[in-house]
Amino acid sequence: MKRDLISVLDMKDDFEKFVDEGIRLKKSFKAGRKDSSMGRKTLAMIFEKASTRTRVSFETAMTQMGGHAIYLSPRDMQMGRGETIADTGRVLSRMVDAILYRAFEHENVMELAKYSSVPVINGLDNLEHPTQIVADYMTIKEKKGKLKGLKIAYVGDGNNTANSLMLAAGLVGADFWIATPKGYEPQEYFVRESKKLARKHNSEIEVTNNFKEAVAAADVVYTDVWVSMGEEGEKEKKEKAFKSFQVNEKMVSLAKEDYIFMHCLPAHRGLEVTNSVADSKNSVIFDEAENRLHAEKIILKKLL
Ligand code: CP
Ligand code: NVA
Repeated sequence: MKRDLISVLDMKDDFEKFVDEGIRLKKSFKAGRKDSSMGRKTLAMIFEKASTRTRVSFETAMTQMGGHAIYLSPRDMQMGRGETIADTGRVLSRMVDAILYRAFEHENVMELAKYSSVPVINGLDNLEHPTQIVADYMTIKEKKGKLKGLKIAYVGDGNNTANSLMLAAGLVGADFWIATPKGYEPQEYFVRESKKLARKHNSEIEVTNNFKEAVAAADVVYTDVWVSMGEEGEKEKKEKAFKSFQVNEKMVSLAKEDYIFMHCLPAHRGLEVTNSVADSKNSVIFDEAENRLHAEKIILKKLL
């Protein structure tokens, strides 16, 4: 049976193994050890939306492990001229070993997975961003030495990144507080599933409109853009609604002294985060970005 990675839930109880093995792979790479486990393997990568990190990390991961990656934009594919997602999946499956798909709609990722006989990896959709989250928890574990029992505060939009981070918090037994403006809370489904997991692992998931409660004594302060790709039409309205949720020095002074600041990037400096926080000694945003490379490696190795 092929294994897809559409949601953080697809890693289930293995999630912390992905994290630990990702950290091990990174060390091994830094020690100069060669890994040719993707020899003769090809990854097709379909990007309906822009990407810097996801594209470069997957492509580089394949190269470093002896494989090959093909960047595909629907603009240049027959998919952009009406070929169905199902047929695209059937055809690519006859040629490549896995497909990465960054899509506007979650249903389209599900559709591709349904008709592909090779693993499909969700490279971000409107509901989740699972590959990012492996790199994020690798970063937290590297910096804090553990995951269980930490307090993670996410401040901002209840979006794809937030949903995936919250599910993973439930899986590793971290306390997760998400503070959003009214009306921008994460979807009920993700809160419910995360709470179920958290109960099993003795941690808490809390949704609030009060960022002070969320950030108080936090070990990790995380934010993401206010306006995700595809929401450009809501820019003005959202920027107004999120104004007081900017992660700035005053806000992070509520966190623990040794808190770490995280952001999946790209950052809109001066909006969701100030330069003074993004460039502070507590900020780990570039380690986090670097970890995408090693996270993609473990994901590819587990799935292919
Ligand atoms: N964090 C992230 O997924 O970045 P990209 O949009 O650049 O891939
Ligand atoms: N929430 C953002 C993440 C970008 C990596 C978006 O969907 O645009």
